[in-house]
Amino acid sequence: MDKYFLTTAIDYVNGKPHIGHAYEKILTDIIARHYSLRCDDVYFLTGTDEHGIKIQKTAQAQGITPQELCDMNNAEFKKAWKALDVDYTKLIRTTDKYHEEVVQRIFKKLVDNGDIYKHEYEGLYCSGCECFLNPKDLTEDGLCPEHLKKPEVVKEMNYFFKLTKYKDAIIKHIKEHPDFIVPDFRANEVLRQLEEIQDISVSRSKESVQWGVDVLDDPEQVIYVWIDALSNYITAIGYDVDHQDEKFKKYWPADVHVIGKDILKFHSIYWIAILMALDLPLPKHIFAHGWITIDEAKMSKSLGNVISPTGVMESFGLEQPDAFRYYMATAAAIGRDGNYSDEDFKEKVNAHLANSMGNLLNRTLSMLVKYFDGEIKPEFTVNPEIMKHASNTIDFVNTHFDNFEIAEAAQEIMVLVDTVNKYVTDNAPWTLAKEEKMTECGSVLRTVLEAMCTVSSLIYPYCPNIAKEMARQLKYDLTTKLGNIKDQKFIQNGILISKEDIKPVFLRVDSEFADKSQKIKV
Ligand code: MSP
Repeated sequence: MDKYFLTTAIDYVNGKPHIGHAYEKILTDIIARHYSLRCDDVYFLTGTDEHGIKIQKTAQAQGITPQELCDMNNAEFKKAWKALDVDYTKLIRTTDKYHEEVVQRIFKKLVDNGDIYKHEYEGLYCSGCECFLNPKDLTEDGLCPEHLKKPEVVKEMNYFFKLTKYKDAIIKHIKEHPDFIVPDFRANEVLRQLEEIQDISVSRSKESVQWGVDVLDDPEQVIYVWIDALSNYITAIGYDVDHQDEKFKKYWPADVHVIGKDILKFHSIYWIAILMALDLPLPKHIFAHGWITIDEAKMSKSLGNVISPTGVMESFGLEQPDAFRYYMATAAAIGRDGNYSDEDFKEKVNAHLANSMGNLLNRTLSMLVKYFDGEIKPEFTVNPEIMKHASNTIDFVNTHFDNFEIAEAAQEIMVLVDTVNKYVTDNAPWTLAKEEKMTECGSVLRTVLEAMCTVSSLIYPYCPNIAKEMARQLKYDLTTKLGNIKDQKFIQNGILISKEDIKPVFLRVDSEFADKSQKIKV
């Protein structure tokens, strides 16, 4: 693997980041960090989607310009990603000049090639979805099923993209590449949608939308948000219609687009057709994650339960995002919806991160200091079965990541932690010490510490700060590639640690003061 290029959806900036946006960015950051342990060149792209009627109307309502709204909320997204240790390579804004100009040229190329044509159209537009809806998809009361709002009747001259021309090629691609859409049950949904596909409107008249990219040579038309938004994946790395940067040549096609299930159609049909029309290679995978609910309810402004990710950290008094990242990453099986609840959060992170993982390291190091003054003696040997389990866990975790099974991979890591905990209980090093079987006692400790080196590497993508602290106490190099860990020993003979250097890697969350009102800040 010589490069790994992964992207997230780009978030609308009509509001501040919420826990749903955070879920996706955390999942993607975890995938990026995991691959950084397998490959030297990972490019992680995220961004903000800044044009369209929704942003125009929100700015108007707040009495500011759309650009001011975009700048303000773009800063909020950046702040949130920093607080959550979402370590992207680039955050593109669709108001970036280079992006806007290339989008105009992409549009022109599609017009010149006959893929885009002008046509008078009457349809039902939902500004929440920023797209026209099919009347048969509305609720019984004629509302958008997603936003529960009545779509506007829009009659205007628009540009249309010939989606129907690419229908058969897209169906063929999906059928021939079973891992193109992940999880696979979503591929069937897309194939059903493709059966009914029609050409799509790709511009709006200036009368209805002003905040967007003008069509070149036709300034009365504004390029509709999806062509603008989707193109970010290639403009961000230097694509242009007649010239492509080295960066583009190196990174495209994307290894994976990580997106929510609600926008799968745009990615697996519209975007794929656009790439085919531009004669560009297709992304290797599109991973559609599920949605996060709050206490089992859909997040919505009207319910007043839109939670800010940094609000969760603040309300639990957490200085680092590791626990929240871990909780989010394990909230749902691949592609399924997940839920956030305070109680569940507290219970899970205390059980997994403090009790099982953190305590294991802490008490092992404490015993090493108590019985051996922190010294690993050459006669201490490692248990081959535990080492084998640790090495197998690396394989399992790699396979899960290759299938985008982030929660499932975390579960494997916890199985390893539980196995090592059981090994300690079964071998009772404190009893061995009492019986003065010191070599046996030291060997148990060495085995645990060796396994914890693997655990710290594997947990690093989820909990980077905890992993760094574990690695510091183990004198272990966290940049070690996963491929080099297997069957290697990292715990050196000699003094490993002193009493003063031992510190719990994660303190239990005791959150009697966790107060929802603080979290609902969006
Ligand atoms: N701007 C478009 C995406 C364009 S991508 C070329 C958009 N923006 S969004 O702000 O509405 O959503 C951004 C991402 O957050 C989407 O992938 C969406 O699925 C995800 N989520 C929004 N709410 C969510 C939850 N409640 N739970 C999980 N993810 C959710 O769509």
